[in-house]
Amino acid sequence: MARRCCRLRNILICVCTPCCCLTLLYSYAIITIYLHMNSMVLRHIAMVSPNLASPHFVAAGASSNGSSPSVPKTFWEQHLRSDALWNRLQRHVDHRFNPIIRKEKSDMLLERSSSDESLLHQSYFEVTSMASVRENFERLPQQVREFASSMHKRNYPILIQPDGECGAQSEQEKEPPLILFAIKSTALNFRNRRVIRQTWGRVGWVEGQRINSSDGDMGGGYIRRVFLLGKETPEDLGVDISHLLRAESKRHGDILQWDFKDTFFNLTLKDVLFWSWFSHHCSKPLFVLKGDDDVFVNTPKLISYLQDQLEKHRSRNTLHEFMVGEVIGSALPNRVRRSKYFIPESFYRGLYPMYAGGGGVVYSGELTRRLHNISKTIHLFPIDDVYVGMCMIRLNAQPIHHPAFLTFDFTEKEEAQPCSYHTILLVHKRSPSEVVELWADLKDTREQCQGVPLRAVKKIKQKATPSPSV
Ligand SMILES: *[C@@H]1O[C@H](CO)[C@@H](O)[C@H](O)[C@H]1NC(C)=O
Ligand SMILES: *[C@@H]1O[C@H](CO)[C@@H](O)[C@H](O)[C@H]1NC(C)=O
Ligand SMILES: *[C@@H]1O[C@H](CO)[C@@H](O)[C@H](O)[C@H]1NC(C)=O
Ligand SMILES: *[C@@H]1O[C@H](CO)[C@@H](O)[C@H](O)[C@H]1NC(C)=O
Repeated sequence: MARRCCRLRNILICVCTPCCCLTLLYSYAIITIYLHMNSMVLRHIAMVSPNLASPHFVAAGASSNGSSPSVPKTFWEQHLRSDALWNRLQRHVDHRFNPIIRKEKSDMLLERSSSDESLLHQSYFEVTSMASVRENFERLPQQVREFASSMHKRNYPILIQPDGECGAQSEQEKEPPLILFAIKSTALNFRNRRVIRQTWGRVGWVEGQRINSSDGDMGGGYIRRVFLLGKETPEDLGVDISHLLRAESKRHGDILQWDFKDTFFNLTLKDVLFWSWFSHHCSKPLFVLKGDDDVFVNTPKLISYLQDQLEKHRSRNTLHEFMVGEVIGSALPNRVRRSKYFIPESFYRGLYPMYAGGGGVVYSGELTRRLHNISKTIHLFPIDDVYVGMCMIRLNAQPIHHPAFLTFDFTEKEEAQPCSYHTILLVHKRSPSEVVELWADLKDTREQCQGVPLRAVKKIKQKATPSPSV
């Protein structure tokens, strides 16, 4: 009996020992693998996070100390399950930068994204080939559908560009130009361009105008100029004017024209392609004024204002995020079907980011180069100034609001006040003949309005419906 017992024990030991060993080994292996994976993920996050500031999605207010409550944190990701086309496309791109989901690829993609647009292309084709998206696509209103079907394209060739480096300029530039005027125009607006060249947009040395320059030092700066044009086909116009544009370019050297259709929803292309051209051709200008060809600019005051900003932001080291204009916070997309700005919910959902009205806005040359890089990770949006706002959010930069930029014009009462045009830097919209008159007036009243300050900085405007460059 005792012997049988003993044999049974031996058998048990023989069978169980390997089992126990295997179980232990298995547990050990699982735990080791788990710990290893964990540390890899952590290491990876630590490795990637210094780069988070650029192409990874950064919401304004999230990493600065939360002092900007009016900016929605992740405005375009609010509706995670939304089937709005733009949100879907952008979500697809943003996933590529997520270091946990796409561990093995994100580093490579982060790097590549700053050098070409293949990421946008790829996500566009992947998303638009899904059956559910294609169905939605067919139901978009015609203008939006037209935009959506070419929103992955940006590589339109340049048809006409300035001979010289970076736009029309005076030959005797002795220091880096202070401002490059980059003005959106259309082929037929010959008159607007002519008037701008003769008045506020004259190139060369321009004297500034300080509010109270007791020492007589007016200051001043060099101005350059370029007009941004798309193409209007002879079939659309009923006449071929390309030779006129070429002659104009030869004479003034300030035409930059690309081979895309010059329509309202294609205006964003002018910003994006201008940033690209600027990054390749313009190393010198300190500021860019991007405006429409129907604005009036108080150039002398703008020069003095920007010289002050230059000092201030250089000393604070914030020139790389400098943008100033009429800032609109937390706007809603326009859902009125008949409006020029109509954006259906099937295309975009969420609020608009904070943005500066596109009629006239000033930003630094440094920021222009950063906008160029970051725009390669953001799908085009049909409203140009909203798109610039989206790029700013992703750079974690905020436009500065200044009430002397009137992209929505004066009230009549304000305009009637004496010296009203001495209190502003820019106003939208003015016809060519009004511009001529205002420019002459500004000169005539210079003495009389000597000490008049700019309109004071008030709080940021909250607009319910955006109507940029009306
Ligand atoms: C947040 O930043 C603003 C300026 O960006 C500063 O004035 C404020 O003191 C900061 N607040 C905290 C709590 O650090
Ligand atoms: C203008 O005058 C005020 C005081 O009268 C002074 O504080 C300010 O520095 C002056 N500005 C310039 C640009 O000279
Ligand atoms: C923008 O321009 C391109 C190229 O000319 C054209 O195919 C497209 O239809 C235009 N988009 C809109 C919305 O007009
Ligand atoms: C933009 O990207 C290019 C290429 O990756 C890089 O060399 C350049 O420094 C970037 N410019 C800015 C202003 O970040």
